Amino acid sequence: MLDFHSHLLYGIDDGVKDRAQSLEILAEYKAAGIDHVVFTPHLYNPYVTTAVKDIRAHFADLHQAVLELGVETYLGAELFVRHQELKTIPVLGRYALCEFDVYSEPLGFCDLIDRTLMQGMGNEIVIAHVERYTWLEPGGQRAQEMKSRGYLFQVNAESVADDVSSRARKWLDSGMVDLIASDNHGRTSGSAQVLVRAYEKFPRIAAKMKEIEDGIR
Ligand SMILES: [Fe+2]
Repeated sequence: MLDFHSHLLYGIDDGVKDRAQSLEILAEYKAAGIDHVVFTPHLYNPYVTTAVKDIRAHFADLHQAVLELGVETYLGAELFVRHQELKTIPVLGRYALCEFDVYSEPLGFCDLIDRTLMQGMGNEIVIAHVERYTWLEPGGQRAQEMKSRGYLFQVNAESVADDVSSRARKWLDSGMVDLIASDNHGRTSGSAQVLVRAYEKFPRIAAKMKEIEDGIR
């Protein structure tokens, strides 16, 4: 199984702080059957300080260390989209994972997002934790426009694994959700199981995730 969105690369953003914790959590992932994990540190998020200069070195180190555990890791990023420079590391070389301000929609935002693709940073857009944005409703015109542009929608495992939040419920009922991921910022105990339970609960979405996973093999 695959975790598409995580902050488990130590010492980079507001996720895992140190190497030992990364190793501990990834060992737990392996035990739960999650053996492909994408690290997606925040980029350009105005509320998070990201040590961009350390990303590649920490990834090289951790990638090697957890191979021995039987976990394959990949480097991506979570790009905060607003009117600024748009540079990212596409997830699995293909997917530009995008997040936004929770309360206000960026002006002309579909065109803004598409600029990411035009700059060669991925082939597909994935909207991170779509249940979070107060300005985006699954039945609304904005969501329809995004769907028609082929964007994919991700919900967080935490929002759906046990008690489904009311906002996540709306998105699930609309049938628009394509991906589930942990967005794990370093919660240790049981975090892998949350993702597993979410996949078990939503087999249709888990099957889509499997297609993504098969694409990397
Ligand atoms: Fe995230």
